Amino acid sequence: MKKIDISSCINEIYLSLCIMNASGAICTTDKELNNLLKSSSGAVVTKSCTRNFRNGNKKPRYFEWKMGSINSMGLPNLGIDFYLKFLENQEIKKPIFLSVSGLSMEENFFLIKKANLSKKISAIELNLSCPNIKEEILGNDLCKISNFLGKIFKFNKKPLGIKLPPFFKEKSVENISLILNEFPITFITCINSLPNGIFVDTNNETTVIQPNNGFGGIGGAVIKPFALANIRKFYSFLRRDISIIGCGGISSGKDVFEHILCGASAVQIGTQLIKEGVSVFDRLRKELILLLREKNYSSIRNFQGKLKIFKKF
Ligand SMILES: Cc1cc2nc3c(=O)[nH]c(=O)nc-3n(C[C@H](O)[C@H](O)[C@H](O)COP(=O)(O)O)c2cc1C
Repeated sequence: MKKIDISSCINEIYLSLCIMNASGAICTTDKELNNLLKSSSGAVVTKSCTRNFRNGNKKPRYFEWKMGSINSMGLPNLGIDFYLKFLENQEIKKPIFLSVSGLSMEENFFLIKKANLSKKISAIELNLSCPNIKEEILGNDLCKISNFLGKIFKFNKKPLGIKLPPFFKEKSVENISLILNEFPITFITCINSLPNGIFVDTNNETTVIQPNNGFGGIGGAVIKPFALANIRKFYSFLRRDISIIGCGGISSGKDVFEHILCGASAVQIGTQLIKEGVSVFDRLRKELILLLREKNYSSIRNFQGKLKIFKKF
């Protein structure tokens, strides 16, 4: 049988499989990270870390249902030193993306400087879009973002990507792309959870999570159309050498296909990984290969970014 190539490259970073975990999905502790390192994922992304250990928000802070998930975790993580030390002691066989999420610009500079010292990290994923913390880093001030990135790229030597929130207006994607295009950014990851959702427990007439009065970030199948739209729009506005990692609503090989068709070079799995565990990577790999075989594609490069507009045949 003809071999189907589902490897990918995020610029120079080679992934033997174009599927990895999303930050925050069972990647916080050493046990969880070891599980991911042993799994068949194409790369490992760590939980977004801060300078210091954080307990995060009060529980219950995560809830899932058939079509999605809601969370307001509040960035519980073991602090950057834990992740750097953990990686130092591992034999690493696939790319590692260290996700950092400082609570201020200064904290982000500190985290990126530290990450630059580690040989075990292939790339930094700078999370500028956590919907569940009070401090707003990205905001809408485009000058501020440009200034911030300018300062980072004065010292940063590692491949660096940015985890983005969902945008709902074409102009917003265009504006942020104009800024990103000015910097040597390796990739973007889109999208983070859709902020400010509510899920109602009808029996008890309550929210299902406690922090932030029950408001939280939404993930899973319900957000896929927004993820695809963001990928598509960024694909049309970004410099071609900035790769897009698609994230949002993936639970089947068909979903992976759609993300790549819209322009993603690789994808991340959040909610479905939490629901299913690391065996999800094998299942998605098999489903993707089957679909490509049916469609007579030999590689993801055959259709990446090639979404066509509907027309009557
Ligand atoms: C429990 C949980 C924790 C998360 N923590 C982080 C995080 O620390 N950093 C981050 O960039 N995204 C975080 N996310 C967002 C996911 O990485 C992902 O962008 C989002 O869930 C959409 O993907 P999905 O539809 O596959 O879940 C978290 C999501 C969930 C459900």
